[in-house]
Amino acid sequence: SKLTVKAGLLQNLHQLLPHSSSPSLPGPPSFFLIGNMMELTHDHLPIHLTNLAQRYGNIYRLKCGNTTMVVLNSSEVIREALVKKWSDFAGRPVSYTADIVSGGGHTISLGDYNEEWRAHRRLVHSALQRCCQQSLHSVIERQALHLRKVLMDYQGSAVDLSEDFTVAASNVITTLAFGKEYNKTSSELQQLHSCLNEIVALWGSTWISALDSFPLLRKLPNPVFSRLLREVAKRDEIIKEHLNNYKSQDKRHEEAITGSLLQGLEKQHNTEHGVRLTDIHVHMATVDLLIGGTETTAAWLNWTVAFLLHRPEVQTKVYEEMCTVLEGRYPKYSDRHRLPVLSALINEVLRLRPVAPLAVPHRAIRDSSIAGYFIPKNTVIIPNLFGAHHDPAVWSDPYNFKPERFLAGGGGSTRALIPFGGGARLCLGESVAKMELFLFTAYLLRDFHFIPPENKASLPDLRGVASVVLKVKPYTVVACRRPPETNP
Ligand code: HEM
Repeated sequence: SKLTVKAGLLQNLHQLLPHSSSPSLPGPPSFFLIGNMMELTHDHLPIHLTNLAQRYGNIYRLKCGNTTMVVLNSSEVIREALVKKWSDFAGRPVSYTADIVSGGGHTISLGDYNEEWRAHRRLVHSALQRCCQQSLHSVIERQALHLRKVLMDYQGSAVDLSEDFTVAASNVITTLAFGKEYNKTSSELQQLHSCLNEIVALWGSTWISALDSFPLLRKLPNPVFSRLLREVAKRDEIIKEHLNNYKSQDKRHEEAITGSLLQGLEKQHNTEHGVRLTDIHVHMATVDLLIGGTETTAAWLNWTVAFLLHRPEVQTKVYEEMCTVLEGRYPKYSDRHRLPVLSALINEVLRLRPVAPLAVPHRAIRDSSIAGYFIPKNTVIIPNLFGAHHDPAVWSDPYNFKPERFLAGGGGSTRALIPFGGGARLCLGESVAKMELFLFTAYLLRDFHFIPPENKASLPDLRGVASVVLKVKPYTVVACRRPPETNP
């Protein structure tokens, strides 16, 4: 009838036009002054936010002081904000402490959206692309073979592999950044890691986040904050020294992207927007790559082995597939389409344990809308990737590890998978990470099968510990060599 058509049109119009009279966002009751602060202090925040979605829907709001946060919990609403309306939601929250750890907002990950940020991201993106095409494969292969040697040297004893995975992932990045790799006992490497880990941990602590919400506290002495400042200064000193060493070398490492970045600065033509990129941008890009590219990849490898201990038959299937397809040789990244069982394993671990479970908060840079709700400028947007990957409307049996869902006829669709986010803020290292996950996993499962230690009845706890990166609780494992005839 005419009335229904009119109602339909009105509804469509309502969806199209963001306006302040659109329905108000659902969310838990908010208390005077503290708002929903208590909701944000749960020990496994991604699980808690996902549980709230069962009650309040795929999009809801939380309040914290003067800030309104909107949590997005399905891949559809996340894509609407991050991809379809990327130019409305490409900002980062303005934060006093983020400014300090990012050298005045000069990192790509924490810098707000503006012309300088765009030029910076473009410069690093093209340097990374070039390196992916030229040398990344051999850099990762080298680290995968080194990891193989480390595991062989354990000779079947029960070990915690997390540090070895961190060293492998970190060496890929330090080779890319300065053409340098380290061994586990190197004091230089330990200094760098302890400093970066400390910064991430301190920055996430309540003592520091309180400085963002309550500016008056900045006037009081705060020993945690002083420690953060010291660690930031130490980090900058270490990176500066490496970059200076790199610049003073006669024969520079070709695989290092620092060369491309420095060249990029020299032939920069992007002054039309008043932007001039300098050494500080190269310096902070190095910080971005080290922080973004080490713990994420390492945590993912650690999760994969943990899940495989629970489902040993999956290891066998991946191994058999490699034997049939590769006939004994080591895989290349270009083999991935011929190895669907391995690819399904990688996707399932990315789905169940997206290692950056809440991505990085975004900020609305203008008034906009998501799912028909009005979103005012400056609203903080939290893409709950963990929630999207457990959405029962998209995934059957979402909490269970089932790599077979990604095989033909299994019902799982990679379209609903968004472990790297999307749009303007898509993970800058996505191509690097994908090649690493594939090659490291393939090399490990070709030469070893992983079993739980004999004297330990318990398998790894799969719930995880969530901070910025979602990690598995420490566990030990035995890496047994596959039959030597397939191990040249
Ligand atoms: C940002 C995931 C590995 C560098 C992000 C974001 C996610 C993510 C979800 C936030 C996107 C957003 O703000 O919406 C992952 C996963 C990885 C991984 C799951 C591995 C399994 C890497 C690697 C590098 C890297 C290897 C470096 C080589 C970055 C940087 C950003 C970022 C620089 C900030 C991008 C921006 O703000 O524009 N990553 N990442 N990541 N990642 Fe990754």
